[in-house]
Amino acid sequence: MAEKPSVAIGQVMENRSVAPGHFLLTIQLPLSFATPIPGQFVMIRDPERGEPLLPRPISVYDFQREEGHAILNLLCRVVGRGTSLFSRLNRGSTLTVLGPLGRGFTIDPDVRQVLLVAGGVGAAPLAFLLQEGSLLKPDSGKRKVTAYLGAGTSELLTGLDRFQGFCDLRAATDDGSCGYCGPVTELLAIDLGGYDAKSTLILACGPAAMIRSLDLLLRDTRIRCQVSLEERMACGVGACQGCVVAIKEGEGRIGYRMVCKDGPVFDIGEILWNPSVDG
Ligand SMILES: Cc1cc2nc3c(=O)[nH]c(=O)nc-3n(C[C@H](O)[C@H](O)[C@H](O)COP(=O)(O)OP(=O)(O)OC[C@H]3O[C@@H](n4cnc5c(N)ncnc54)[C@H](O)[C@@H]3O)c2cc1C
Ligand code: FES
Repeated sequence: MAEKPSVAIGQVMENRSVAPGHFLLTIQLPLSFATPIPGQFVMIRDPERGEPLLPRPISVYDFQREEGHAILNLLCRVVGRGTSLFSRLNRGSTLTVLGPLGRGFTIDPDVRQVLLVAGGVGAAPLAFLLQEGSLLKPDSGKRKVTAYLGAGTSELLTGLDRFQGFCDLRAATDDGSCGYCGPVTELLAIDLGGYDAKSTLILACGPAAMIRSLDLLLRDTRIRCQVSLEERMACGVGACQGCVVAIKEGEGRIGYRMVCKDGPVFDIGEILWNPSVDG
């Protein structure tokens, strides 16, 4: 059960580059900060500068409680103004942190094989899921976990260490510098026939193109799949309606959901990528 979100002023404990254009932000928060569920995210903003005015959504990569405070880790890629500003924050800087927000991943008890499929920093929420332990709870029986991680090059496979030794690992890079040479969904397509459709669950997070490929790949299978969607967000709490996606509601009807509040995790089969065509 998700806890009510908190708003807190966090203090940057460490901000370190982990690959070109990628950084790991470690934030100290009050002990009272609500516990995140894997797949949930936080909205962060620098309160000392007026811009960017709006906070930015980032998935929880790691969360732990230590004596007297909580520690939140975020794995980030520099994309534009906001993430560039966060990448330059020094130790001791403050950040406003709102969260945890949204609905995370869920795993039915009958799932025996979990496939984690990530592109780039999409590895963040899946690494948290793996380490938080809900994949391997006592009631999960003999559940196997295999991670498919994709990135442009080997050095952009950020977060690899969070998977190595904790599950079976299949890597794919665009330049072939680590693992399969090509998109991670192509590697998954090669292996897919080896998994039992009834007891397999795919949990995925990555760029829109990866999620679309996954949707096409799974269309004729009965494999269950949940994906974490990335939409631009202004409020993160369902107030601005800026993150709406179209959803299949059955009998050809189209519904609308907010990624921040109803997601970011959705069943892949319910998403309408192009309402005018797919609907
Ligand atoms: C639920 C959720 C979880 C996320 N988790 C992570 C994470 O763990 N690590 C991480 O690095 N990033 C994550 N993101 C993406 C991150 O929020 C964006 O990269 C960031 O908001 C960009 O802000 P900016 O100011 O740097 O770029 P801007 O200047 O706002 O935008 C630069 C460019 O990126 C595009 N863009 C901005 N935001 C998004 C978005 N959300 N989706 C697609 N394109 C976008 C814009 O259209 C523009 O072209 C997540 C997004 C969501 C919705
Ligand atoms: S970001 Fe405002 S409603 Fe989703």
